[in-house]
Amino acid sequence: MSDQTTTTVKRQSLHGQWSTRMAFILAVTGSAVGLGNIWKFPYIAGENGGGAFVLIYLLCVFVVGLPIMMSEILIGRRGRRNPVMTMKIVGEEEGRSRNWALVGIMGIIAGVLILSFYSVIAGWAMSYVFMTAGGTFVDTDASQVKSTFELLSGSWKLTAFWHTFFIVITVVVVAQGVQRGLERLVRILMPALLVLLLLLLVFSMNSGYFGQAVEFMFRPNFSALTPSGVLIALGHAFFTLSLGMGAVMAYGAYLPEGTSITSTSVIVVLADTGIALLAGLIIFPVVFANNLQSDAGPGLIFQTLPLAFGHMPGGVFFGTMFFVLLSFAAWTSSIGMIEPAVAWMTESKGIKRAVAASILGGFTWLIGFGTVFSWSLWKEKTFFQGTFFDNIDYLISNIALPLGGLMITIFAGWVMCRNSTSDELNCGTGLMYKSWRFLARYIAPIAVILVLIEAASGGIVSDYLSTIGN
Ligand code: PHE
Repeated sequence: MSDQTTTTVKRQSLHGQWSTRMAFILAVTGSAVGLGNIWKFPYIAGENGGGAFVLIYLLCVFVVGLPIMMSEILIGRRGRRNPVMTMKIVGEEEGRSRNWALVGIMGIIAGVLILSFYSVIAGWAMSYVFMTAGGTFVDTDASQVKSTFELLSGSWKLTAFWHTFFIVITVVVVAQGVQRGLERLVRILMPALLVLLLLLLVFSMNSGYFGQAVEFMFRPNFSALTPSGVLIALGHAFFTLSLGMGAVMAYGAYLPEGTSITSTSVIVVLADTGIALLAGLIIFPVVFANNLQSDAGPGLIFQTLPLAFGHMPGGVFFGTMFFVLLSFAAWTSSIGMIEPAVAWMTESKGIKRAVAASILGGFTWLIGFGTVFSWSLWKEKTFFQGTFFDNIDYLISNIALPLGGLMITIFAGWVMCRNSTSDELNCGTGLMYKSWRFLARYIAPIAVILVLIEAASGGIVSDYLSTIGN
């Protein structure tokens, strides 16, 4: 089928379109920039030795993430429906199976599961806004900061309160639809986020430890990098760019005809990467200035930064700003997580947007209690990977997103014919198109298959790589 000429009548989205290309860029960037950039990237960079890891992560983002992002957007715009219908329609149009719809269904389930735990962490970030502003961390020591965190995470009622609040604000935005809800929100929040980050950067630059942080992040020390670190970097490229579950595909469905997918994707990827690096440059000087551990793990932000904020001049102000920023970033990301499901319910089941958003929100909220309880009532109930939260996080990051991404890149690279993809990418069939197709057909799938094997086997790829290395 691959060289067949398809003449497609261009479909219209049922939900309207982004009013400008900028609105689309902001929305996808809003989805991409979140807890992944500000909370997760610095701590995994810290755990994996800094520079060399950052270099590999950048490589993964541009060589694997970028072509998959272009694939998701082009499939989304081609189908102009929710990911389930889009995969089905485009699959049929290409003369292939309608069962590709399963990729959309998997994405919908993954999105709901991500939001269920994401909202709990985002909820903590929101509660830290108030704690920091109220001076909770002023002049405290490490053990007090730790016990404050444990008090919050160990109280299922407090955690549930913030989890509920976060789900509600997500539903409110999604219920209003693309133009009124999503677009208006990101238009205000994304620029605000950037301003806040730059302000914090100025603060970190003046901490006296900026040089040390730059060196840690950008001087590659390959002896600190393990094969499994390489695979963590690749897996994170998916999470941070919101790839593999249809969020970007759903947004692509609202992209006006004629907007360049290539340059739009490049801008989004650069913005997401830039913000992750900025977050690192803000956090590490604080870590070094206070003799904190750069490899402190997921607690880096919640258990160590407040300590630093509590001891620095202007710490209440900057600490509060930091958590405001983290909450905003999480909010604009959470919308993309249930948009595929909401669009599917409205388009395929004829349910009103507000009702669909509320039903899904309620359902996600319920599942979220598994994560809420993971640090309190069910703390001791561990199985397979650990707590309920550990399992859901493992399932998403190590299995669902890479698998979804693999299917999407195979669909765009192998299932869709050359004419359809070059028509949608609208960049001719020159070097640019050829590079995308090569990455989408070969490099991205192979890289993802390696991560999946690594995850499924508990480390077989990294074991093998280290034997070669020796
Ligand atoms: N990219 C978001 C982050 O970095 C997380 C996300 C994953 C959002 C999947 C939407 C879909 O925090």
